[in-house]
Amino acid sequence: MTYVIGIDVGTSSVKALLVDQQGIVCGESSASYPLIHEKSGYSEQEPEQWVTQTISALRELLHTSGISGAEVEGISFSGQMHGLVLLDEHDQVVRNAILWNDTRTTDQCREIKRVLGDKLLQIARNPALEGFTLPKLLWVKEHEPERFQRAAVFLLPKDYVRYRLTGQIAMDFSDAAGTLLLDITGKKWSAEILQAFDLPESLCPPLVDSGDLVGTLLPEIAAQCELTSAVKVFAGGADNACGAIGAGILTQGETMCSIGTSGVILSCEENPSADYAGKLHFFNHGKKDAFYAMGVTLSAGQSLTWFKNTFAPNQSFEELLQQLDRVPAGAGGLLFSPYLYGERTPHADALIRGSFIGMDGGHELAHFTRAVVEGITFSLRESIEILRTEGKAIPSIVSIGGGAKNETWLQIQADVFQAEVIRLESEQGPAMGAAMLAAVGCGWYPTLEDCARQFIRRTDAFQPRSEHAEAYDELYRIYKSLYPQTREISGELAAFRR
Ligand code: XUL
Repeated sequence: MTYVIGIDVGTSSVKALLVDQQGIVCGESSASYPLIHEKSGYSEQEPEQWVTQTISALRELLHTSGISGAEVEGISFSGQMHGLVLLDEHDQVVRNAILWNDTRTTDQCREIKRVLGDKLLQIARNPALEGFTLPKLLWVKEHEPERFQRAAVFLLPKDYVRYRLTGQIAMDFSDAAGTLLLDITGKKWSAEILQAFDLPESLCPPLVDSGDLVGTLLPEIAAQCELTSAVKVFAGGADNACGAIGAGILTQGETMCSIGTSGVILSCEENPSADYAGKLHFFNHGKKDAFYAMGVTLSAGQSLTWFKNTFAPNQSFEELLQQLDRVPAGAGGLLFSPYLYGERTPHADALIRGSFIGMDGGHELAHFTRAVVEGITFSLRESIEILRTEGKAIPSIVSIGGGAKNETWLQIQADVFQAEVIRLESEQGPAMGAAMLAAVGCGWYPTLEDCARQFIRRTDAFQPRSEHAEAYDELYRIYKSLYPQTREISGELAAFRR
């Protein structure tokens, strides 16, 4: 037997997935690492922890699945997007990585807008948002000039792990797309953007496609992971691109809802000139020469995790979500906006914070739980609305991640999105997309689509229920008024955040 491994370098943990040639998951392991929040709005991680935890997840994967390392033919990666990893000329890490959910760079975003104007949307196809990589680079340049001076190259999280495993430095287009330095349709680093900020092109790593072979495992790493140094390592892609591949979202208009730490609505786009005017992110897909449009709710699963840890620490997620059925749609008049760390789509606003509104003396844990789940889902509907306004029909959506693990939440998605919501048989998220890139790279299948036909099986479809459509439309209308009505208060409260 031969196998591939998909590795997802996520925000809270790394997950490794062992998959055979039929797409059967033969093993799974994960290892977590902490987030460092030095100040409000700051979010960092130590790159070394990704590496040690990836090695430990790989060892555990082989031990628990009982297969021999010699049977593993290929590995590929998926990773949290946008995080800035700076390496010096000896390839040593210069500072902690600054992550996608770090919002310290509002001033740098303003400066990017001022300097580039419309050029940014024309070349990078996205507006300047705090989470993206260029503003982080400019922040380090301005606030930590000595560190910036030492930086010889920058990488994104999974590229750093891949580099440590293979010794090869590279970045794939789907992840490079989230840096704001890529000419998205030209598939090259933008000399114009680099020059505008006096950044040398040498700072940017060589670009590759997600399915490209980047190298093989370094012998010392292979020994530590109990694999062989003949294992082929393929570039891999951004977690959202890999989530889409793993959900079979590979042709025009196919749409996915993924609820992990962040939540995204992602729709495959094969037309390079599709124009969302910056209202949605527009990135290169992990499928060669395809793209996707995507809206992001920064704190989706994160809102539920925060809520559980703060208010129901002794319950499991399953127990907490069992409460959903105990209260009707609308959570007894309680609404939640999931802006725990600011928001991206449709309100690019680093200062906004979340709220519960409509609290009543009769509300219990069940009402709050349902309000959190509905608030996350309403926020994702805002991204679907943008796609629909731009002429996409979105009759059906594949749901993955935490939001796909509970049937009531899947039904809420169908009712709120007014679309059929599809669940997959063995949903493994971005790690499966990474495994599929390795499977195609190893020549098991000619294309990702062929691989998807074998690897991905759809099970249930949740239909929107007409009797709930009116109530949810009305609740959604009220939800949309939360942002404009709480923005000023959030701004005033910002002074008290520590
Ligand atoms: C996408 C984004 C997040 C991260 C989470 O733009 O910032 O979805 O990729 O890992």
